[in-house]
Amino acid sequence: MASNKKVWKPGTMLNPVPVVMLSCGKIDGQKNIITVAWAGTICSDPPMVSVSIRKSRFSHEIIKESGKFVINLVSENLVKATDWCGVKSGKDVNKFSEMNLTAEKAETSDLPIIKESPINIECTVTQVLELGSHDMFLAKVDSVSVAEDLIAEKTGAMDLKKAKLVAYSHGEYFSLGKKLGYYGYTVRKKK
Ligand SMILES: Cc1cc2nc3c(=O)[nH]c(=O)nc-3n(C[C@H](O)[C@H](O)[C@H](O)COP(=O)(O)O)c2cc1C
Repeated sequence: MASNKKVWKPGTMLNPVPVVMLSCGKIDGQKNIITVAWAGTICSDPPMVSVSIRKSRFSHEIIKESGKFVINLVSENLVKATDWCGVKSGKDVNKFSEMNLTAEKAETSDLPIIKESPINIECTVTQVLELGSHDMFLAKVDSVSVAEDLIAEKTGAMDLKKAKLVAYSHGEYFSLGKKLGYYGYTVRKKK
């Protein structure tokens, strides 16, 4: 055993993780939002993601039936809505109207996206794995919509820092701190 550690109980200790709002249902019918922290990127080509959802969630049934969901990334100004959508059920409330969120039609389906979110990732489920407490939905990415104010007019480059995205760590929401480096900076040759 490491001399400076105590052995902790096995659990969901991977931190930090993203926290996102999944929108599901139909733009012209019943629509819902569920907050999810057990979400991840699982393949680059084809681009694929996973989200793990308990069977007891209202959204579980909706997503299982339609085979589609939208991942809406969370900016600092959406933290309150994100938390609320994670403690209330669409069985009882309309989360779009209660949180003043605007539902707009997705590019590739009749699902709702959350207009106020800076990035919407439209997904189609390819597999559902029953893992235990949660079912893991594996999904391919059909379309990504990015807020225009994140894209530089001249170059077309995206500045994701401007989105002020939120991380989730051990039950708490955080804004991202200062930049510490970038991919491969340790081996990049200085000009
Ligand atoms: C920060 C946060 C993260 C959450 N992550 C998940 C998750 O990954 N999977 C899940 O099934 N529920 C998760 N939940 C709980 C659901 O969002 C919550 O049960 C919600 O009320 C379900 O809504 P629904 O019944 O309308 O589908 C999370 C809640 C919060 C606040």
